[in-house]
Amino acid sequence: MRRLFPLPTEPSVPPAAPDREWGLDELAEAYAYPERPQSVSGAYLRANMVSSLDGAAHHDGRSKPLSSETDMRIFGMLRGLADAVVVGAETVRQEGYRPARAREAFAERRAALGQPPAPAIAVVSASLELDFAAPLFTEPLVPTVVITGAQAAEDRVEAAKAAGARVVRAGSGPSGRVDVAAVPAALAELGHTRLLTEGGPRLLAQFVTAGVLDELCLAVAPLMVAGDAARIANGPLAAEPEQFALASVLEDAGFLFTRYRRIYP
Ligand SMILES: NC(=O)c1ccc[n+]([C@@H]2O[C@H](COP(=O)([O-])OP(=O)(O)OC[C@H]3O[C@@H](n4cnc5c(N)ncnc54)[C@H](OP(=O)(O)O)[C@@H]3O)[C@@H](O)[C@H]2O)c1
Repeated sequence: MRRLFPLPTEPSVPPAAPDREWGLDELAEAYAYPERPQSVSGAYLRANMVSSLDGAAHHDGRSKPLSSETDMRIFGMLRGLADAVVVGAETVRQEGYRPARAREAFAERRAALGQPPAPAIAVVSASLELDFAAPLFTEPLVPTVVITGAQAAEDRVEAAKAAGARVVRAGSGPSGRVDVAAVPAALAELGHTRLLTEGGPRLLAQFVTAGVLDELCLAVAPLMVAGDAARIANGPLAAEPEQFALASVLEDAGFLFTRYRRIYP
């Protein structure tokens, strides 16, 4: 067992990790994607989620009340490293998703890796009940991807395409929905291999049970909210618990920024 916090304060013991502001470059180094993903799809799927102490993934339908300035900084930094941000349609609707921004701080790093200036947003939806007139579809720097199932309504598919979205039919899951196990490979085919999912909980649960989640960046907020909000993964039970190994823990203002990598069987 190791004590990560608090660190020793005796004058004779130098602080192992002083409390200081981390630069974006330093954070980006710490969270760099692996050069060679282990998955057969060739993509690496990382999730970034925030949870209250009592396990809630949102407060009154929004995740912002659980977040902090540093959490938002890490959220933005993780976007800055990704080729595509994969997100469930309900999160897009509830959180009013907009296109990802190009940020100067990541321009050089992205150019060196051959990435466009901003990640694409990839929305998973069966119903395609999305506002295709919204900036997410009409104004992105990189076309927004819509990932849907075999039974998507043709008129909604056409509306998505007319708005400028790239529509991908990823497998055929239950009731003609998306087979989420096929999502990393489908995005890899579009050239997106550094994947970041921002949930929501129903989508994340499926990535977990499909065995395609490579990494979880979990921020634990020093807050309790009670109520009956979903946990960060909300869906059918995994046949066996998926095993993860601790990769790093950062702390700021009582928030724990943990990072766990999947242990491959
Ligand atoms: N704590 C956090 O870090 C965090 C992160 C993200 C979101 N949230 C919160 O979570 C809530 C929303 O999450 P949620 O779990 O309800 O929803 P979600 O996972 O964001 O989205 C669910 C929707 O995604 C689509 N979808 C999911 N699986 C699919 C499949 N296999 N095939 C086709 N479409 C599929 C469906 O869209 P259609 O209905 O269009 O078919 C479904 O209704 C919000 O309150 C948000 O604030 C929290």
